[in-house]
Amino acid sequence: MGEVAPLSVSKKVPLTAQAINLYHQPEHKNKVNQVTDIIDFFGQHYKTPNLIVRAPARINLIGEHTDYNEGFVMPAAIDRTIYFAMGWRAEHSWQLHALDISKSILLKLEEPSLPSEHWAKYFYAILLELRARGWEPKGVHCVFGGDIPSGAGISSSAALTCGFIYALDQLHQWSLDGVEIAKIAQAAEHRVGLNCGIMDQYAVLHGKQGKAIQLDCRSLTHQYAPVEIGDFRFVLFNSMVSHSLADTEYNKRRAACEAVVSFIQQHKPDVQTVRDLNASLLAAYEDQLEPLNVRRVRFVLSENERVLKAAAVLQQGDLKTFGQLMFQSHDGLSKVYEVSCEELDFLVDFVRPFSEQVLGARMMGGGFGGCTLNLIHKDAIDLVYEQLAPAFEAVYGLRPDRHIVQLRDGVSLYPLNVNP
Ligand code: GLA
Repeated sequence: MGEVAPLSVSKKVPLTAQAINLYHQPEHKNKVNQVTDIIDFFGQHYKTPNLIVRAPARINLIGEHTDYNEGFVMPAAIDRTIYFAMGWRAEHSWQLHALDISKSILLKLEEPSLPSEHWAKYFYAILLELRARGWEPKGVHCVFGGDIPSGAGISSSAALTCGFIYALDQLHQWSLDGVEIAKIAQAAEHRVGLNCGIMDQYAVLHGKQGKAIQLDCRSLTHQYAPVEIGDFRFVLFNSMVSHSLADTEYNKRRAACEAVVSFIQQHKPDVQTVRDLNASLLAAYEDQLEPLNVRRVRFVLSENERVLKAAAVLQQGDLKTFGQLMFQSHDGLSKVYEVSCEELDFLVDFVRPFSEQVLGARMMGGGFGGCTLNLIHKDAIDLVYEQLAPAFEAVYGLRPDRHIVQLRDGVSLYPLNVNP
């Protein structure tokens, strides 16, 4: 059983010396502004919030479409964040304000269906899910906002759901643990329509500064893997594509894997998920299965192997081999699992010739859009981007956004008494 990141922090967190130092760093200055904007808005419309919660986005170093097959993944929380200010409300309803888009909604649980606003669906689904599990959330005011680009494939929805549940948990003092919060957030996502695995929610909750989370999605236990990348950096290039078919295609991939499992299970009852399969077992039933489904499962088996290899080579500091595994993961996702798109393939193919400067690149997350993850030497980031951006723009008419990211702690309370 791996370490578990501390999730319960006492309600009033003092502004520690360490935190004060952080606020003086230029990167953090911006974060403080985001938090003060949220507190100010809250103060103008309600009173002082009872608490502030920060919830990070995530990247995934390697291990894609393996989580819902009870396989292995290696995600990490990053320094892109949603902040929530939350306080009690006298009425039994939930007043939510999305500061970045200046939209409010009042949720009442008597409503017959999910609200029409996409972002509000997640909150409503969480409230329903909490109730279904026996928790009775009381009414709150909640103002939230931050710097996680939506549709970029870095799990803004997991940050939104996990941050909100964590804030409710702290306020109600239910003492939910990280795995329970992740499961509630995952179930809320299912209610909204994506039949996702648990990687994103788990990563957002259990992130640890400078570490990746080596998660076994069967046992739901993890170890922190050291990520010592020296002069290299994790850089995201955003394909700027947010594919409307992503949820449907994602659910189809999951169904394909499950179809293979349920067929083999008729002959081998011990087989519960793809985790229980291997290449020879698959080969034994191959001629009775849909060939496309067999291809999908083959990819998952190979991706699981890559995660285990990646963990071993990262431990040894072998970044070159790690980078090659990233490229192999991309190739499998693109050609065998078929969840990439032209723009993502372009971004990965463009950086391949920079073999000394870019050790690895791959599409990340569910696919059909979002970002590629690149491992790039810090001195070459500008050079690569200055060639990549115009080349991409010439073909697709848009400049890809770029984000240099750092690995950070998971969801936590944020000091209330910040005075920047
Ligand atoms: C999305 C899902 C995750 C996972 C990835 C693919 O991010 O939310 O559960 O399946 O896609 O690895």
